[in-house]
Amino acid sequence: MGNPKQKLKVAVLFGGVSGEHEISLLSARSILSALDAERYEVIQIGITHEGQWYFGNNALEALNEGDLSSCTPATLLADPTRNGIYLIKKEQSDELLSHLSAVDVVFPVLHGTFGEDGTIQGLLEMANVAYVGSGVVASAVGMDKGIFKDVMKAHQIPVVDWMVFTRQEVESRLEEVIAKSENIAPYPLFVKPANLGSSVGVSKCHDRQELRLGLKDAIRYDRRILVERGINAREIEVSVLGNEDVDASIPGEIIPADEFYSYNAKYHDDRSQLLIPAPLEPQLTDYARSLAIRTFKAIDGAGMARVDMLLDKESGELFVNEINTIPGFTRISMYPKLWNAVGISYPELVDRLIELALARKAEKAKNLYRYQRESQGK
Ligand SMILES: Nc1ncnc2c1ncn2[C@@H]1O[C@H](COP(=O)(O)OP(=O)(O)O)[C@@H](O)[C@H]1O
Ligand SMILES: [Mg+2]
Repeated sequence: MGNPKQKLKVAVLFGGVSGEHEISLLSARSILSALDAERYEVIQIGITHEGQWYFGNNALEALNEGDLSSCTPATLLADPTRNGIYLIKKEQSDELLSHLSAVDVVFPVLHGTFGEDGTIQGLLEMANVAYVGSGVVASAVGMDKGIFKDVMKAHQIPVVDWMVFTRQEVESRLEEVIAKSENIAPYPLFVKPANLGSSVGVSKCHDRQELRLGLKDAIRYDRRILVERGINAREIEVSVLGNEDVDASIPGEIIPADEFYSYNAKYHDDRSQLLIPAPLEPQLTDYARSLAIRTFKAIDGAGMARVDMLLDKESGELFVNEINTIPGFTRISMYPKLWNAVGISYPELVDRLIELALARKAEKAKNLYRYQRESQGK
């Protein structure tokens, strides 16, 4: 930045329409407390369950308490010539926009739908503002478990056998869907919505009756669902950081309190444990780290991601299960804890992600958007 005294304006977005609204508030609380006030001017934007944006210096508290009367409705425009956050003010029967602040970097601390799936990233691209984390394609591919597995397969990255079905197929041809599912592998089978998180709509099905119920449950959440071979698995997670030069942390392991890492085991049962580092043979540790980097590169990830794997307890095979492009980010979450274990503190991690966002924008600025003869500009 030109003037070293000039603080970087960072807009932190949190809350949102997604089912992971509350997790987002927890992540944002940690991030806001880590942003160095000497270096950054922080603009808090809380997004309600309905999707309305609010600005306020205490927006996080206000959203937490469900009382936004101290905050002002705000927005970001898709027009790149109108940089930054605008307040929406009511004057008589009109709503007027007034410019609040330019923005150098947006940190979307939004997990799941509308936050981690490329939609907000699309808006940020349109606005031509730097932002933390993956772009549109990597976010969308990382979110959609079906397309993600297609990409993994194309890159020879091991994933468990799966099939995708649509809501329409489940509703109109259930017996056919069941027969095809039973061809994937013997029970147990896992059923999950293609685009969701926090284990919502995920079921472990031990027999045909449970599969029937699992299918009907999953289609409540998404138009497309997956049926997968169920693995008796250890759950291994690796944190990734970087843009062009990508680094992988040591692996961690989750010991879920339930039969699998269900919604309840994730957020309500404090018997779920994180092991850092995961107790793995050195060779397997190296392999898990290399798989994480290959996965991140295969989807063209940027900034950060947590790559979650399933280690088959019986065969010792390691499969990539999913990638989270905006992983849980509280101080006690796996993503920052894995970096902490290799010497990158939480505030350093946040600084690094902001630098990576600026680097990514600078890289993008090199692109030409119209044909130009090579000799021009020389
Ligand atoms: N094929 C599978 N075999 C064994 N366990 C699985 C499988 N798929 C999912 N799980 C279990 O379900 C949990 C949630 O599934 P996951 O695919 O990670 O969805 P989410 O995006 O909701 O976290 C995993 O952490 C794991 O415990
Ligand atoms: Mg998961």
